[in-house]
Amino acid sequence: MLSRESRRMAGLLLVILPTVVFGGVSVLTLLIHDPDYMDNALRQDLWRAGHAHAGVLLVLSLVALRYVDETNLSNRLKWFVREAIPSSAILLPMGFFLSVLSPHATDPNAFIYLAYLGAVVLVAGLLVLGIGLIRKDSPQTA
Ligand code: HEM
Repeated sequence: MLSRESRRMAGLLLVILPTVVFGGVSVLTLLIHDPDYMDNALRQDLWRAGHAHAGVLLVLSLVALRYVDETNLSNRLKWFVREAIPSSAILLPMGFFLSVLSPHATDPNAFIYLAYLGAVVLVAGLLVLGIGLIRKDSPQTA
């Protein structure tokens, strides 16, 4: 049974997930109808990565919510896990999309640092969740 906090976050994530569908439809439309889109390989790669990471990390966030209530982490650390992994699902795509907004961008702008920040937040959330699950089973904490 999910805690109230996890259930609310899961609901929010499911409401946000259609934005990934919107992104997928957008890149598909660009690929098919905008010949200039394929001319900028860096932009195409980063926008594909933006769409892909948004989808995969939102699904990973939903998976994490199933586990976080099973840990015996403090409420503060459970809150951190519930916020950190979904935050990375926002930060990485923002970095990928916003760093090459211009069709003529040859280098990503400073927004790309959001992707690195997202990576740090993601790793922190995953480690806390993983350690919380392992500690739950250890004899010392049982
Ligand atoms: C939750 C829903 C979705 C998830 C999790 C998802 C995930 C992904 C992933 C992981 C990739 C990268 C594949 C790769 O390059 O190896 C991708 C690419 C792509 N997706 Fe989605 N996708 C979703 C929905 C959609 C929808 C609804 C559409 C269009 C109707 C779409 C269109 C595309 C296109 C066209 C690409 C290739 C983009 C390119 O190569 O530039 N996606 N998606």
